[in-house]
Amino acid sequence: MEKIRVELGERSYDIAIGTGILEGLGEKLRSFDLSPRIAVVSNPTVFPLYGERLLAPLKESGFEVLAVMIPDGEEYKNLDTVEQIYDDLLKYKLDRKSALIALGGGVVGDITGFAASTYMRGIAYVQAPTTLLAQVDSSVGGKTGVDHELGKNMIGTFWQPGLVWIDVETLKTLPKRELLAGLAEVIKYGVIYDKGLFDFLEVNKEKILHLDNKALTHIIRRSCEIKADVVSKDERESGLRAILNCGHTIGHAIETATGYTRFLHGEAVSIGMYLEARLSQALNLIEREEVLKIKAIIDAYGLPSALPAGIDVDYMLSSMQLDKKSVAGELTFILPQKIGSVIIHKGINAEFIRQALYSEG
Ligand code: NAD
Ligand code: GLY
Repeated sequence: MEKIRVELGERSYDIAIGTGILEGLGEKLRSFDLSPRIAVVSNPTVFPLYGERLLAPLKESGFEVLAVMIPDGEEYKNLDTVEQIYDDLLKYKLDRKSALIALGGGVVGDITGFAASTYMRGIAYVQAPTTLLAQVDSSVGGKTGVDHELGKNMIGTFWQPGLVWIDVETLKTLPKRELLAGLAEVIKYGVIYDKGLFDFLEVNKEKILHLDNKALTHIIRRSCEIKADVVSKDERESGLRAILNCGHTIGHAIETATGYTRFLHGEAVSIGMYLEARLSQALNLIEREEVLKIKAIIDAYGLPSALPAGIDVDYMLSSMQLDKKSVAGELTFILPQKIGSVIIHKGINAEFIRQALYSEG
């Protein structure tokens, strides 16, 4: 098992990565100072696959475990679902020393973290992520939250987990399209921080796509190390943490313009990453060869890179201004300068962005 420490003073915690480690969480939690009454939050897709592997050893370790089921889907990532979780926790009398365990993808993780941060003014929680996206991104860093009718992730808290427990084997049942969407975020870490990871992705594509445990563990570990490093330097996103949003300014605008139905988040981020690299090229901040390398790796993993035909670019531009990453309407872009290095760029003229979006690569 590999271990990474997220250094955040008294809120520091470990990320454990291994194959077939779900069963070991019960034993691990014995060393935490917890009430015996805990809850596993999951959904009807993930729980039948992995619930028992987690629950039985937790019970053997002396915990009384409540399984809280929430519906599967981003459309349920809202305050109504959080309310249902509170109801179950209160009925079952979970106390201030109880913990929640999030077993599932980023939706389960974000909602569970939010519920944990507000139940009895905040209790402990563990992330047991089962999608690649959740393993490399959403389970680490303490951003929790739910969606509002007027915007995604608009209601939330910063609340760090006490432990992140990543069983790489859970990826074996993940639909391929979800796996690829998670890989977009791994490519992102290569682009923003680590040419070595980018090169590894180029060389080991077959192994990764065939779910070779060693290759998967390597890319998950490296991604978590990068995220842990960034978060420990800037937990509340007052500066550096924004680099994790590379590809996201345009990506979010594409998701909004297509009603969140056409693309998975990672797919929209891949398009965003390439178009933001082109924008960087238009500003003479990056060489064309580097931009082509970014496009080549996105294409190699079968992810999209082109702006979808018929998309309303004006609508995209106005939604970028409403995004919570923009302040007072000023757009922020995370622009690559070369593979492994980005800059945070503010105040690019909307007309210039429009031209860069339409230009040929
Ligand atoms: P998801 O949670 O919707 O999971 C995708 C689908 O895969 C779901 O149907 C899920 O039930 C299913 N699934 C999960 N694990 C499985 C497995 N092992 N086998 C088979 N099916 C499985 O989507 P996601 O991509 O994991 O997460 C997206 C969410 O994460 C979004 O709400 C996004 O806002 C959030 N997010 C949060 C952060 C953060 O820092 N908190 C960062 C990035 C994304
Ligand atoms: N997903 C970006 C972040 O956690 O900051």
